[in-house]
Amino acid sequence: MGQTKLIKSISEMKEIVKDLKIEGLSIGFVPTMGYLHEGHISLMECSKRENDITIVSIFVNPIQFGKNEDFDKYPRDIERDLKICKEVGVNYLFNPSQKEMYPKGYSTFVIVEGLTEKLCGAFREGHFRGVTTVVNKLFNIVKPDRAYFGKKDYQQLKVIERMVKDLNMDIEIIGCPIVREADGLALSSRNKYLSPEERKSALSISKALFKAKKKFEAGETDPYKLIKLIKNVINSYPYTRIQYVEIVDSETLEPKTKVEKGDIIAVAVFVGDTRLIDNIEL
Ligand code: PAJ
Repeated sequence: MGQTKLIKSISEMKEIVKDLKIEGLSIGFVPTMGYLHEGHISLMECSKRENDITIVSIFVNPIQFGKNEDFDKYPRDIERDLKICKEVGVNYLFNPSQKEMYPKGYSTFVIVEGLTEKLCGAFREGHFRGVTTVVNKLFNIVKPDRAYFGKKDYQQLKVIERMVKDLNMDIEIIGCPIVREADGLALSSRNKYLSPEERKSALSISKALFKAKKKFEAGETDPYKLIKLIKNVINSYPYTRIQYVEIVDSETLEPKTKVEKGDIIAVAVFVGDTRLIDNIEL
């Protein structure tokens, strides 16, 4: 087991980063909201392979949650997460407080237009504004050479790529593959909310995506037919309520009228009260 240093204060993290830079070490960064799972771990492993130093952050970012969303009940267990970081061999675990990240009088936000209005953005007002703002702040503190994001949150990855490009940030954004349970369910900290019965129904999401991909590979290019197939599979399970199913261009996130290789099928589904997202590249 490696040594992972837990850092709580922004100024201490900045001091450490300053020294790492003087030593000429490359920094890989994995921002998370904690309750770490194999999806997060795959990003850390990737960072470890490509950088001298890996920094993971855990911060449940209040400003990316809507009023009726799960900020208060979002799972938190820093001791468990620290242990995982040690096992993986992460160098620093940065866990700032809400008070220090958003002190009284805080009033600066980063907004990426366009991309953030599609897919999840249409249903989660202000969500991506919260994400880009906190990621920007974290980037300014950690000053990474490379930052790692999962394709599980495909739209988030595209929005961050856009922000880094538009604001001329010298950070390489690396998108990593979706990690799934053996049965296909995409790993998520929110899977913890699912009852055993809901867990069975949640499987309908990946099942539907795999089925649609097969159908596309067999020659179906009509998005409406593929979307209908997905909706039928998901709706045939109890406790599911579809928020959206869309087939979009992988860069613009615009809906397609004819489906092509490389397009993304993206879905958001409530299973009971738990909102799950997933996607697949065709
Ligand atoms: P969180 O949901 O904790 O996810 C942190 C990172 O892990 C994200 O880049 C996400 O895409 C990735 N991830 C989650 N589940 C994954 C899976 N099954 N396979 C691969 N990667 C997966 O996303 C956030 O936190 C926040 O919005 C954050 C970027 C930290 C800003 O607050």
